[in-house]
Amino acid sequence: MSKTKTFFVCQQCGAQFPKWLGRCSECGEWNSLVETPQAPMTLRTSRGGEQALAFEKPRRLSEIKSVARSRAKTKIKELDRVLGGGIVSGSAVLLAGEPGIGKSTLMLQLTAKVAANSSIQNSVLYVSGEESAEQIKIRAQRLGIKGDNLLFLAETNADLICTQISELNLQIAIIDSVQTIWTGELAGTAGSVGQVRESTNRLLRIGKKRGIPIFLIGHVTKTGAIAGPKVLEHMVDTVVYFEGDRFGSVRLLRSTKNRFGPTDEIGIFEMTNQGLIEASNPSRLFLSRKRGKVPGSAVVATLEGTRPMLVEIQALVVPTQLVVPRRIGQGVDYQRLQLITAVLTKKLNLPLAGFDIYVNVTGGLKVEEPAVDLGVALAIISSFKNLALREKTVCFGELGLLGEVRPVSQMDKRKKEARRLGFTTIISPEKYSSIAQVFKQFFK
Ligand code: TYD
Ligand code: MG
Repeated sequence: MSKTKTFFVCQQCGAQFPKWLGRCSECGEWNSLVETPQAPMTLRTSRGGEQALAFEKPRRLSEIKSVARSRAKTKIKELDRVLGGGIVSGSAVLLAGEPGIGKSTLMLQLTAKVAANSSIQNSVLYVSGEESAEQIKIRAQRLGIKGDNLLFLAETNADLICTQISELNLQIAIIDSVQTIWTGELAGTAGSVGQVRESTNRLLRIGKKRGIPIFLIGHVTKTGAIAGPKVLEHMVDTVVYFEGDRFGSVRLLRSTKNRFGPTDEIGIFEMTNQGLIEASNPSRLFLSRKRGKVPGSAVVATLEGTRPMLVEIQALVVPTQLVVPRRIGQGVDYQRLQLITAVLTKKLNLPLAGFDIYVNVTGGLKVEEPAVDLGVALAIISSFKNLALREKTVCFGELGLLGEVRPVSQMDKRKKEARRLGFTTIISPEKYSSIAQVFKQFFK
């Protein structure tokens, strides 16, 4: 097969070079050159020949027929919710997450569900460039998947995968993972930005052409750097992050981009010995077990997408040994934590400058909406005063710089969820207009 000509493009300024350079000589950016093919793409057929992909001609918008995209329910409710109601035909979904979080497990469970519900033979393809057929088999057995209708392919060459996809009558294809896929037409190694981008490009094109939804698995590191998912985000239709505390059992599926639905929904799973199971009652997962009144804890009613959820915020306030006291927040926004601490210092005259403050959200959840401000504030006050809040107390509200408690969205929904779970005291912006008022009522 003839090698396609490639050149290197600076991702910063767009300058083109025949050879790779460590630094772009046009704009001076380091490490910004990415290998890109020059010639029109060709598609390799199974007979060994090549077939050029047809170019689209511009058409009048009015002449373009609108095809109602069908949405197939995955029957995994939490996944459907995140995708916006099911899988859209021909869509490309990127499932990103840290290694070991459970991406392959989720995708295997998804393919098994689709295969089991499908009347078409051999219509589900799982491509793995990371694990061998035997490894996948072991996992499938652990998950109780027989896989009668499920095809497995251990392959890393994007063009060969495309060939298979174009020749099978598929309903869905999974690529695990994009970092292992490569095309012979570029010189870079698998995992390099150029390779990841170009290989993905080819896979997505074939998926779109044949109307097959394609799920791509992509690893991200702790720092979120690495050539990979970040480059892909604008190539795909939907980006879902699979996250959670690897040492805990709760896993969250969160979409950050969705061309076919809302992006604020999350799906909640629990990792068990039999794989991922859907968490239908998330509040119970995030509230720590019942154990009477303990200072430093506040339950807050937060909203994830359209779903209200109760989570516990814990704080520990201890005298500092340092000149600059520590502020550590897990699952809460660091800037907000600083701000809340400053408000409490000023408005309640708490001498927090002499104390280290640690804040944690139980269950490994990240809560970033301003409505949790009040929870963080009350947990801090409670630990500082060594006074527990009354049992069955829940709160929500944004804290302003003047110490005012501000209204947040969907307060009725939050209150309803709290009552449903047996909470009787609700500290809300409707009842209290300032943090000083709340302080007087609950900590004096
Ligand atoms: P995996 O899906 O391989 O993660 P990823 O593809 O994101 O790298 O899952 C990895 C972890 O999940 C592994 O540490 C074991 C755990 N696990 C379970 O706890 N239960 C199970 O049934 C399975 C299959 C995996
Ligand atoms: Mg994996």
